[in-house]
Amino acid sequence: MTRPQPTPEEVPMHLIPRPAALTETAGTWRLTEATGVLAGPGAAGVDDLVRELLGRPTGYGLRPAAGPGPDTIVLRVDPALGREAYRLSVDADGVTATGGDAQGLRHAVQTLRQMLPAEIFAAEPPPGVAWTVPYAEIEDAPRFGWRGVLVDVARHWFPLEFLFRMVDLAALHKLNVLHLHLTDDQGWRMEIERYPRLTEVGAWRAESMLGHLEDDRYDGVPHGGFYTKRELRALVAHAEARGVTIVPEIDMPGHMTAAIAAYPELGDDPADPPAVWTRWGINDRVLNVEETTVAFFQGVLEEVLEVFPGPWIHLGGDECPKTEWNASPRARERMRELDLPDAAALQNWFMGRMAAFLSERGRRVIGWDEILEADLPADATVMSWRGEEGGVAAAALGHDAIMCPDTHLYLDFYQADPETEPLAIGGLTTLEKVYGYEPVPAGLPAEAAARALGAQGNLWSEYMPDARHVEYMAFPRLCALAEVTWGTAGEFAEFTGRLDRHLRRLDHLGVHYHR
Ligand code: ACM
Repeated sequence: MTRPQPTPEEVPMHLIPRPAALTETAGTWRLTEATGVLAGPGAAGVDDLVRELLGRPTGYGLRPAAGPGPDTIVLRVDPALGREAYRLSVDADGVTATGGDAQGLRHAVQTLRQMLPAEIFAAEPPPGVAWTVPYAEIEDAPRFGWRGVLVDVARHWFPLEFLFRMVDLAALHKLNVLHLHLTDDQGWRMEIERYPRLTEVGAWRAESMLGHLEDDRYDGVPHGGFYTKRELRALVAHAEARGVTIVPEIDMPGHMTAAIAAYPELGDDPADPPAVWTRWGINDRVLNVEETTVAFFQGVLEEVLEVFPGPWIHLGGDECPKTEWNASPRARERMRELDLPDAAALQNWFMGRMAAFLSERGRRVIGWDEILEADLPADATVMSWRGEEGGVAAAALGHDAIMCPDTHLYLDFYQADPETEPLAIGGLTTLEKVYGYEPVPAGLPAEAAARALGAQGNLWSEYMPDARHVEYMAFPRLCALAEVTWGTAGEFAEFTGRLDRHLRRLDHLGVHYHR
């Protein structure tokens, strides 16, 4: 791909992500007390977003307008533009936002918001701001349909309000997926009504690890929390209104210590259950492979499906040590019963069963690249995290891939010199490295390029004890990822010039970004 290389003058409003095409003309439009909103067919709901994002900070009512005109923001849908595309015209005749669909229209609203003075991002802007917007004509559409961010709420629990905020921050950057890593060895975070101990027991750990694995130090402070189904439904509704899909992950059959602590019959030795884990790293304790365990997690997934209506459900599948299955007489007996050669085949069998369960219910399965070895439904999608190899292999097998390689998009890695940074898990993922990422792997044959659905930044939270620190690790790297996945990333120096101005918006929002 040759990257477009705009001069700074071409993007005077410092929009992030940079639109595909922007023409500025002389003159400014002004949002005032008199401005109204006209929502055409298919635009219903987006007018509420305009009132929230532009009306609340300015104090203007932005009431329904009788017709188009200089004081009207017109919202319309024209499917001919295509999915998520939009056109935005600002001139003496007013503002017209046309979306290829409601999602495209939401993007237009976010662009219009960025075209206003940065104070529009303040909860209480100072008095006297002239709410002007430069006359412009924008034609825009994303290159990739998956523009994601993962938040790991298992290693540390974060307040629900923070997840609402992450949805808002994602939408501001036209990112459209919030992947929630809801379960892990260190905590189970989603209420499951039929299995209350998953949160009564599994959501709480005695303490947390301090420092790196080799330090083996702990803080002595109990940690935990979970989200009720009602809270998660509210999050899903909030996200939907902003064009963000929440993708829930229930990570199996490894990374399950919290569940086994809650229901010891899910593990290899019910007489000797583990505690919810206080260490980071990979735990040898994994699920057993009994039919009752398959049924248990199908029950869990039924409740997950009730809460999350989106097309995608993530089943994890990463880092499942085979130590316990190899040593367990019962697991070996299961291999014989199922006519499977080894423990690796046992994992593939387990993932295949769970994937089929979701597929029969009309959902698309996602798994970490380890799931490639399982017998998967044709529409199963692989998240390539151990570099790009998993994504390339998935595409070769006819599966879709989402790129989040640890080489470029692990946002739990240091973003600058570890000497000057708060403790992180390791690695180095600079802003420039994220910005330079190309989501279609070089190893992918041209005819398979469309199988790369997009990319995602992963915020694993072992070393992010609170929401503020998640923001520190997320921004501004997510600004770079937004532009990479939108498809308009060009010269890094030009981007950082624009970013400097964009950060004023994040200042008004109180985002605790890395400077
Ligand atoms: C992973 O980082 N274990 C997906």
